[in-house]
Amino acid sequence: MTDATDPQAAIDAASEQRGRGRDERVYEHTAGDVQDGVPFVGAGPGDPGLLTVTGRDLLADADLVVHAGSLVNSELLEEYCADAETVSSVGKDLEELIPLLRDAYEDGRTVVRLHSGDPAVYGAALEQMDALEAEGVPTYLVPGVTSAFAAAATLRTQLTLNGTANHVAFTRPQGRTLDPEDDHVSEFVAMGDVTTCIYLGTHAVPEVMDRLLEDGHDPDTPVTVVYHASWPDEDVIEGTVETIGEKVADAGYRASALVVVGEAGAGANYDRSYLYGDWANRTESEADD
Ligand SMILES: C[S@@+](CC[C@H](N)C(=O)[O-])C[C@H]1O[C@@H](n2cnc3c(N)ncnc32)[C@H](O)[C@@H]1O
Repeated sequence: MTDATDPQAAIDAASEQRGRGRDERVYEHTAGDVQDGVPFVGAGPGDPGLLTVTGRDLLADADLVVHAGSLVNSELLEEYCADAETVSSVGKDLEELIPLLRDAYEDGRTVVRLHSGDPAVYGAALEQMDALEAEGVPTYLVPGVTSAFAAAATLRTQLTLNGTANHVAFTRPQGRTLDPEDDHVSEFVAMGDVTTCIYLGTHAVPEVMDRLLEDGHDPDTPVTVVYHASWPDEDVIEGTVETIGEKVADAGYRASALVVVGEAGAGANYDRSYLYGDWANRTESEADD
């Protein structure tokens, strides 16, 4: 196994290239096309049934699946790619991951890179793709169900809800991956008509809620935590900015959770929509306007 081109150099070169124009493949393919190269597939939130049909077909053909460790349900791997070699990406840096994927591809093996949820949301997929492309390995994305959408389904609600939340923010707080100045959780919550979906481990919930209280947010703002959405041990913890931290700490969970801040998470106080009201009843001439 030879080293890969410096991944940082590959990332910089790809960024610069994008500044000059789009990759031709953007116009040649639609999302969902099976293409040449290594697909970066979204595994969905956990339940094997929430993988896309294309993702399932790609896994069925794979010889090597490099997956996101405990964020991907092992049942999904057993169900859809039992014959493939499976390797967790956890603890591997780009310098180790890229040669692993490249060498397998160059040896003629069918390779799938499996991310949790959707690779386009907190997935760090692009840097791997850029580094692989620099090695001459084509790559592409296959979307998945992000955990915020799974949480909405669990809660039997919408993330946008007429009269309650017109916007959705996918965010994460300061911590290992985000500097304090890039933390906008408080600003999204302050907007009021935003459903703020916070991607973070349960251990960080009390600290994030303390920060919201320090910033002067209404302590009664509803907060719902969906732990391990769509997994067999899924749980829902209801509270407010003031109470949820303690409730989550008491529950003792240590893994993935999606924190939904705002009334839409509770499906409360919304208005009937225009879509199935006046707009649906408009005359044909009004519809043509
Ligand atoms: C590295 S990010 C990956 C997000 C993923 N790409 C997605 O679209 O859901 C990991 C975070 O996603 C969230 N997450 C992933 N799977 C989850 C699940 N099944 N239930 C709740 N949250 C989940 C958690 O907040 C976790 O800390």
